[in-house]
Amino acid sequence: MSNFKEIPIKDSHRLLNAGNVILVSAQNGDQKTITPVAWQMPVSSNPKLFAIALGHKRYCLELIKKSNCFCINIPDAKLIDAINICGSHSGRDIDKCKEAKLTPAKCTKVDCFYIKECIAYLECEVYKFIEVGDHTIVVGEVKTAHGVDGLLTADGVYDTDKFQIINHLGGDYFAMLKLVKD
Ligand SMILES: Cc1cc2nc3c(=O)[nH]c(=O)nc-3n(C[C@H](O)[C@H](O)[C@H](O)COP(=O)(O)O)c2cc1C
Repeated sequence: MSNFKEIPIKDSHRLLNAGNVILVSAQNGDQKTITPVAWQMPVSSNPKLFAIALGHKRYCLELIKKSNCFCINIPDAKLIDAINICGSHSGRDIDKCKEAKLTPAKCTKVDCFYIKECIAYLECEVYKFIEVGDHTIVVGEVKTAHGVDGLLTADGVYDTDKFQIINHLGGDYFAMLKLVKD
């Protein structure tokens, strides 16, 4: 007898522990948005490439297609309210910086903005768009990356005692990472 119970395919993505939630900022001139994204992953070390999956109708995708760049911002647990605000409205309808009380600052390598309240950010240029089902995978090449002081341990991993990055489990559920070292 098997201990396994079937999980509907529609829920199967819950079994893959998505990486930490990121806030993707995108800009085309005066048009701006900040979009929470849980479906993200590194896809190449050299060149350094990351992929994010965006629903075809996301304003974020529209702006990235126009500007050919975006910024991946890493929020910590203090920004859960801001994540929920940015994730429940489109940047077509509201000014997310204002509504979520997030401060934009100019990126240096790409024509976009990063978010000052986040603990790290990676400026990316578009490498490739890949349409899959109801999402578009945007692959970005990192042009420069920054993190706040003390973010990484001497071994170069997140110091989770000091900074709580968050994972999205689904719906309103988030989880925080705890560093375990033997
Ligand atoms: C925690 C969280 C994770 C999300 N992950 C994704 C994602 O991986 N891909 C996506 O397209 N939308 C995702 N969304 C939904 C978008 O963030 C949401 O539809 C947003 O309002 C789109 O804004 P925009 O139209 O300004 O781009 C997520 C929302 C939340 C709250």
